[in-house]
Amino acid sequence: MPTTSAPAERPMTPTGTTSVTGTTLVIGATGTTGGRTTARLIAAGHRVRAAGRRATPLPGAEPVRFDWYDPTTFGDALDGVDRAYLVPPIGDPDPAAAMMPFLRQARAAGVRRAVLLSSSAISEGGPAVGAVHQALPGLFDQWAVLRPSWFMQNFTGAHAHADSIRTDGVIRTAAGTGRIGFVDADDIAAVAVQALTNDRAPNTDLVLTGPEALSHDDIATIVTRVTGRPVVHHHLTYEDMRDRLAAVIPPEFAALLAGMDRAIAEGAEDRTTDTVQRLTGRPPNPFRAVAERELRPAHRAPQAP
Ligand SMILES: NC(=O)c1ccc[n+]([C@@H]2O[C@H](COP(=O)([O-])OP(=O)(O)OC[C@H]3O[C@@H](n4cnc5c(N)ncnc54)[C@H](OP(=O)(O)O)[C@@H]3O)[C@@H](O)[C@H]2O)c1
Repeated sequence: MPTTSAPAERPMTPTGTTSVTGTTLVIGATGTTGGRTTARLIAAGHRVRAAGRRATPLPGAEPVRFDWYDPTTFGDALDGVDRAYLVPPIGDPDPAAAMMPFLRQARAAGVRRAVLLSSSAISEGGPAVGAVHQALPGLFDQWAVLRPSWFMQNFTGAHAHADSIRTDGVIRTAAGTGRIGFVDADDIAAVAVQALTNDRAPNTDLVLTGPEALSHDDIATIVTRVTGRPVVHHHLTYEDMRDRLAAVIPPEFAALLAGMDRAIAEGAEDRTTDTVQRLTGRPPNPFRAVAERELRPAHRAPQAP
């Protein structure tokens, strides 16, 4: 049974009022955006069913076992759910194959609103999750597709960049000096909560960025300043990047990710949007603040201003 009760009042949001919702299914609830979305929904008094392959208990949420590749897990996950946050199966070049049967079952089970996590680099009808984006409005009257830029947490969490920063003091990309509107996963979650719970659904895609576009050289400089440990950005060619990635992920996916780096080098991600401000009523967090929050060693004294 859900462990939270309904909120006592209707909080006002920048984009409208938020009513008491039924139960929200959060797929990927143990992950970078799903975990933060779950925590924010719980804090706002909403009921959450937290889905993952191991039904991991999360404070205030009802855990449920769910696997995109095991349709026998769909029914329990969807029981009594009226909205869903969808993190696609990770690293699958054709996520629609696993997602579409689930989404049809979700609609039949009474889900009215779906919020899909996609990417700024993938437009409607594009590769991978782009096909699911295209299908979403035909399945749900209320929907949103979140299209965040690259996550700031790639440099602070469990991502390969964060690992190589910790082990070698290096960030390796084929993005050159191309700039990206890196976004804080906390801001993505804040927008996800608005998209899931506001009385009026966005019914559109939302490109999410931080407040400024930064190169990986800029990121290395900021991480160096915040941690006090030197970090450098190694500029790889597209081919080197693709081959390094192909050692750990399928070749098709490696080529897709390396191609995204090449597009960044050509300026494809050099932009910022006002989406976080518009939906949450506050500006997005800058990378420096996120790095200080998540990377600054506890034992280091605060630096003089
Ligand atoms: N990193 C970036 O810069 C960036 C930028 C834009 C978009 N994105 C997109 O963000 C998505 C990743 O989101 P995230 O960072 O929030 O997640 P994440 O931290 O990568 O975690 C993945 C989540 O998915 C769950 N999961 C994995 N395989 C599953 C399966 N077969 N069935 C059900 N659940 C499964 C995991 O839970 P369990 O392990 O508990 O099952 C976990 O909660 C990707 O689609 C990526 O394209 C990333």
